Amino acid sequence: MNYSIPKDIFVKAAKEYGTPLWIYNRETIEERVKETKVFDVVRYAQKACSNLSVLALMKRLGVVVDAVSAGEIVRALKAGYKGGIEKGKAPEIVYTADIFDADALELVKQHKIPVNIGSPDMIEQLAAAGIRTDLTLRVNPGFGHGHSSKVNTGGDLSKHGVWHEQIKECVKLAQKHGMWISGLHMHIGSGSDFEHLAKVCDSMCDAARALGSHLKTISAGGGLPISYKEEEKGNRIDMQLYFELWDKARKRIEQSIGHSVSLEVEPGRYLVAESGYLVSEIRAIKKQADNTFYLVNAGFTDLVRPSFYGSYHGISIIACDDRELNESENVIVAGPLCESGDVFTQEEGGFVVTRNLPKAQVGDLLILHDAGAYGASMSSNYNSRRYAAEAMYSKGELKLIRERQSFEQMLQNDKVIDF
Ligand SMILES: Cc1ncc(COP(=O)(O)O)c(C=O)c1O
Repeated sequence: MNYSIPKDIFVKAAKEYGTPLWIYNRETIEERVKETKVFDVVRYAQKACSNLSVLALMKRLGVVVDAVSAGEIVRALKAGYKGGIEKGKAPEIVYTADIFDADALELVKQHKIPVNIGSPDMIEQLAAAGIRTDLTLRVNPGFGHGHSSKVNTGGDLSKHGVWHEQIKECVKLAQKHGMWISGLHMHIGSGSDFEHLAKVCDSMCDAARALGSHLKTISAGGGLPISYKEEEKGNRIDMQLYFELWDKARKRIEQSIGHSVSLEVEPGRYLVAESGYLVSEIRAIKKQADNTFYLVNAGFTDLVRPSFYGSYHGISIIACDDRELNESENVIVAGPLCESGDVFTQEEGGFVVTRNLPKAQVGDLLILHDAGAYGASMSSNYNSRRYAAEAMYSKGELKLIRERQSFEQMLQNDKVIDF
């Protein structure tokens, strides 16, 4: 397996900060951002990895953000992004969700954050809270796509977005309350299938017709894929082609409404997945009948994608001593949780599979690759396991960007009440 970070850094980092540990390579993030800059505006879907240092890096790289919760608005503000809209510029933060909770509504009001509406009720709720803000509509075009049914965000079984036949109703509702819908957004799942994408672009053109001349921006959403398997690493998405498909749709829209329209993209995974490694340590190796298990000290409380989606992550071993790792064996890699689904080598549906890995020893490091997106940000405290530390690597230097959670922090809101 290839590493974008020198191997000895993993060993040093594990010694210095302990494991499990997330390491992100800053240069990889910078490269991915550069590639996506063919679009007018790159809006980072921070849910992929919302560490403040990652957000601050995005800001320095000229990337704006979306926020899907009150907490993500707070993170964006803390990282230096501002609410409101400066004339001629894309808003730095956009709240994109299908509901408001009380905290989100309050923060939207306080910081004048534009909202990407996912349910018509949100318009009424903005008006009831006395908020007049810029609106865009997240449209569900009636169909979806994605690498798993859990990330398919379009169609009549999806909870996301405003149904495509309700756009005009939303426009009227917004106008009734003194607001304008000036943008359209479609995020309908993660994957790259250009035929499918062309269908999405056509739907955007149809939706734009319903909005008419008020339209100022269209957003292609996220969903730009990466290859998780080593043998598919050469098949990178054709970013130019991806852009051109959307650009054609944009030009068609511009022709029909008679003025220019800004084209946004909203990637999460693409910008951070390949930058990230989850470094764990093998704590036990055991045989169950014919199967060999490598049991590591990271579990689905750290990286949930294999358990949740059956997702594949590349796995490599770094010896804890000077041993050459010449031999290999088929093993199952599992975590420490008291939960049988806590297995990193599994496919969708929970089918446990083996992986051919170097013959390892207890104490060796086991690295999960391409773990920068939907890794740390989807971690949990289940089994009362603490959030792992996060570190960023750049040009020979490694810096901690999040301390490992302490037991005190984990317990600080619990109360012992004698009933
Ligand atoms: C509204 C929205 N935009 C962008 C994204 C980012 O998707 P991806 O990480 O696949 O690029 C998501 C992911 O769920 C999303 O819901």
